[in-house]
Amino acid sequence: MAVGLMDIKGQYAELQERIESAVLDVLRGGRVILGPNVKAFEGEAAAYLGTAGAVGVANGTDGLTIALRALGVGPGDEVVTVPFTFYASVEAIAQAGARPVFADIRPDTLNMDPDKLDAAITARTKAIMPVDLFGLPADVDAVKAVAATRGIPVVEDACQAWGATYKGRHAGSLGDLAVFSFFPTKNLGGFGDGGLVTGHDGDLLQTVRELRFHGSKDKKAFTSIGFNSRLDEVQAAILRVELEVVDAWNARRAQVATWYDAHLPREVLRPCVPEGSTHVYHLYVMRHPRRDAIAAACRDRQVDCAAYYVTPCHLQPVFAEMGHLPGDFPVTDAAAAQNLALPMHPNLTEEHVEEVAAAVAAGLG
Ligand SMILES: Cc1ncc(COP(=O)(O)O)c(C=O)c1O
Repeated sequence: MAVGLMDIKGQYAELQERIESAVLDVLRGGRVILGPNVKAFEGEAAAYLGTAGAVGVANGTDGLTIALRALGVGPGDEVVTVPFTFYASVEAIAQAGARPVFADIRPDTLNMDPDKLDAAITARTKAIMPVDLFGLPADVDAVKAVAATRGIPVVEDACQAWGATYKGRHAGSLGDLAVFSFFPTKNLGGFGDGGLVTGHDGDLLQTVRELRFHGSKDKKAFTSIGFNSRLDEVQAAILRVELEVVDAWNARRAQVATWYDAHLPREVLRPCVPEGSTHVYHLYVMRHPRRDAIAAACRDRQVDCAAYYVTPCHLQPVFAEMGHLPGDFPVTDAAAAQNLALPMHPNLTEEHVEEVAAAVAAGLG
């Protein structure tokens, strides 16, 4: 039985009539840029997350860049983030004009290690950006505790974590600003690109709102160099439909994760979910030193799998001038060498999971 990593078509089929009707309403309504669906989605998203507001942007990468710019980050500044993340987290820092500085991750959660922050912070540090990797919130309170002693704001990269919770609060409500991506493979995913910036400070959110529209409040006076980066009305209409089911989809993902936890061979390291957090399993990522053999066995049995961030950000060619070497961030190096994402979506059955687990066991020999 072939098992796919994701199931965008299956998730679409479940909502087909409602999505198509919402999209047709947009096409027939004639309001296609910053129309009623973007406004309504921003309100519904903020209510869901428990934030003062939310601002739709064109994608998560722009959202991170705009969030940093809204906080005043620019040339000459440094922003601390993790090396084990999708490249866009780091790219956004450079796009804002700042220099990315890395702090290693924790071996259990694979999220930013607050104990490594002190060594990464300098007088130039203007923001800290933890990432809620694979759908598990970072330990943002511990990051904030370090940041607060120096008055440094925190931007939460929540791109992979719609619906996850941390100490009773939603991912995306934990930093001074937070950012989501609605890339189609995300738990809450559009049918194209999309993103959202969220936060608790109305003035900061207003700056974000202006930056997404060329640095203007009224389309007449342009007060800063901004972006043309708006959430598309069609995507917003689709996301409003998905917002109604995303908790149920996340619950089904969590059920799939419990099946994996039960059926995978004992020697495989499972994702860690700390007390007080919930994981939404954007990806279910196992770890084992013999990752490549396991991946080969999965492919032999038509089980989709993928290793993530195999070349972590600090070793990417574009950052060669930083002079980082393997070994600089040993926890990241190990995660990059050992991780393997297994099929994860709301439509998997226990039978599928047993098939995947059998493939993993075959890879272990
Ligand atoms: C952790 C992380 N940060 C940033 C991004 C960038 O989002 P987008 O692809 O919407 O620009 C993504 C997703 O692709 C991501 O996974």
